[in-house]
Amino acid sequence: MQPASQDDFTLRDGIEGLTPPRIATLYRRAPLLRQTDSAKKLEQAYERSQLVLSVWQGERLVGVARVLTDGVQVSYLCDLAVEPDVQGSGIGRMLIDEVMERCKGTELVLRDSNLSAGFYEHLGFTHVENGWVWEVKGEG
Ligand SMILES: CC(C)(COP(=O)(O)OP(=O)(O)OC[C@H]1O[C@@H](n2cnc3c(N)ncnc32)[C@H](O)[C@@H]1OP(=O)(O)O)[C@@H](O)C(=O)NCCC(=O)NCCS
Repeated sequence: MQPASQDDFTLRDGIEGLTPPRIATLYRRAPLLRQTDSAKKLEQAYERSQLVLSVWQGERLVGVARVLTDGVQVSYLCDLAVEPDVQGSGIGRMLIDEVMERCKGTELVLRDSNLSAGFYEHLGFTHVENGWVWEVKGEG
């Protein structure tokens, strides 16, 4: 089988086609550690986000980026996930480039994972120490 090329992938804007089962499957496989038990909460998270981008290989969802932003000062990249079999094909960069273009002029912040720290460093992000998180405990 030929390795995937950028031409195989289409970038889409918005939540159309992003059903909770599709998102949950992508998160589980990437993996991206997010609550996926509640389809309702997953749906609401996407509906309430200002910027949702997805990448498709035909009708197959292979990547997603979800952002909360005020559009002028700060943007928070909540989720970024790419299907494992097409990781390394430029999809993560495609999503980040579009997020940066759409959130231009705002500070883009995110939480990384052991898997992705090198990715953000490679793309030129600055690692910060002065971050704090109030973790959701129990049911939240
Ligand atoms: C991290 C992730 C989004 C990267 O997506 P991807 O589509 O594989 O990345 P790309 O193919 O677009 O890579 C872009 C560049 O970053 C580099 N890169 C990708 N992952 C990297 C890593 N973990 N460490 C260092 N560099 C990395 C690539 O080599 C490529 O470099 P180049 O353009 O100079 O050749 C993807 O691996 C993923 O979904 N991981 C699991 C979920 C996760 O950790 N999400 C982020 C949590 S916030």
